[in-house]
Amino acid sequence: MTDPREREDRPERPLDAPRRRRAHTTSRDLERYAGLFARRTQVMRSSAMRDLMAITARPEVISLAGGLPDTSAFPADSFAAQMTRIAHESSAEALQYGPTDGFEETKACIVEVMEAEGMAPDIDDLIVTTGGQQAIDLITKTLVDPGDPVICEAPTYPGAVPTFCSYEAEVHHVSTDDDGMRIDELEALLAKLRADGRRPKFIYSVPSFQNPAGVTMSEERRRRLVELAREHEVLVVEDSPYGLLRYDGEPQPTLYSLDGGDYVLYLGTFSKILSPGIRIGWVAAPPPVLDKIGLGKQAADLCTSTLTQYFVREYFAGGRWFEYIEDLIEIYRARRDAMLEALERHFPPQAEWTRPEGGMFIWATLPDYIDTTDLLAKALRENVAFVPGRAAYVDGRGASSMRLNFSASKEEELWEGIRRIGRVVSEQVDLYETITGEHTVGRAETRPAGPGDEPEEPAGGDVVPMPRRRS
Ligand SMILES: Cc1ncc(COP(=O)(O)O)c(C=O)c1O
Repeated sequence: MTDPREREDRPERPLDAPRRRRAHTTSRDLERYAGLFARRTQVMRSSAMRDLMAITARPEVISLAGGLPDTSAFPADSFAAQMTRIAHESSAEALQYGPTDGFEETKACIVEVMEAEGMAPDIDDLIVTTGGQQAIDLITKTLVDPGDPVICEAPTYPGAVPTFCSYEAEVHHVSTDDDGMRIDELEALLAKLRADGRRPKFIYSVPSFQNPAGVTMSEERRRRLVELAREHEVLVVEDSPYGLLRYDGEPQPTLYSLDGGDYVLYLGTFSKILSPGIRIGWVAAPPPVLDKIGLGKQAADLCTSTLTQYFVREYFAGGRWFEYIEDLIEIYRARRDAMLEALERHFPPQAEWTRPEGGMFIWATLPDYIDTTDLLAKALRENVAFVPGRAAYVDGRGASSMRLNFSASKEEELWEGIRRIGRVVSEQVDLYETITGEHTVGRAETRPAGPGDEPEEPAGGDVVPMPRRRS
């Protein structure tokens, strides 16, 4: 074996120099491997956000597509101090493997976070995962055989769609409105599945400041959902990355606290309240389910990063974790307000959108003759991106909706991004009206952005009143 440092042909490459890439895969290459792929790869889907990330990384693109928290808000000095302390005091341990279910100290931090949302989990009911995404994967791997029914909101978290597909779940969508998942529809679906002799494996919900729709489930619906889970003996997966990021209104009880942890599995993450780069999430679940999830995790990655679990421990020891969330709340509230104002100013009156009380996303719906997947190509030419609504459904619905992220961009960028999208939307509306001769509603004329601009009234004349935007 040769020591790579001794290789004569070893190129001198500055750290920031781009790596040479291999030539693009040819069709002959693909054929060579095709016969080896497992059947489940045929139903695997790529995540729309991941696909978009490559494009939106270009500096000239204003990306409203990601689900990124603003990590530049985290004080660099404090990060440096914590990492230095780890290096000096626990270097060998921090660089070592750890227990599959996570360190007790990490779990103690998780308990603090859950307590801040009114929950009191037993530390033994927790397993630390490599982000909330791994938790979704492990839960699905543990519970779902091909063809098993899984119920989720419509729209649902776009990152859960590829997971459900790769385990070949039969996904049933339940619509949402401003109060979250429609529990009357859920009840009817559960009754139908029961009549057909089928028991869904779980109901997946993001009840607070949902990704992608931004809506929050009302307390009444939360209570009824937990009752239904008990009546039908169905598990509920409560995915709650955003629960502590509330900008207005009153906190709602978590499903986990209403249920007491019998039927509700709670899924949390440090991604949105500290950092997604540390890749630490968790699951709280009844012990028999947790044991199986732990077996799945052993096979998946042995353990979550020891180094970043040590970082969480140091960070919480400083006792300022909640203050940082309060800082984020101030920043994101202003950004949400800026996006809402910009939408009011630059989107045509045919569009509707949600008004989230927290979280990171607004969901906008355009007239049904506009397909947001096609629109994205036009928007990218204007150097702006969003997530097309189809990514949030398994059944091709959502074609005229889009997810807009407001946490990752400064107010001026949000204004400019929404102005550009508003312009391409308005072009489509004009085109449709010219071709069909329909003039359903006058639209506000778009002009260069200006924070503080007053929204214009729709033009008069042949205006047909449209349903009011949700506000
Ligand atoms: C609803 C929801 N669940 C899970 C995740 C995954 O988060 P992570 O794996 O970074 O913890 C996200 C990330 O955006 C999310 O919005």
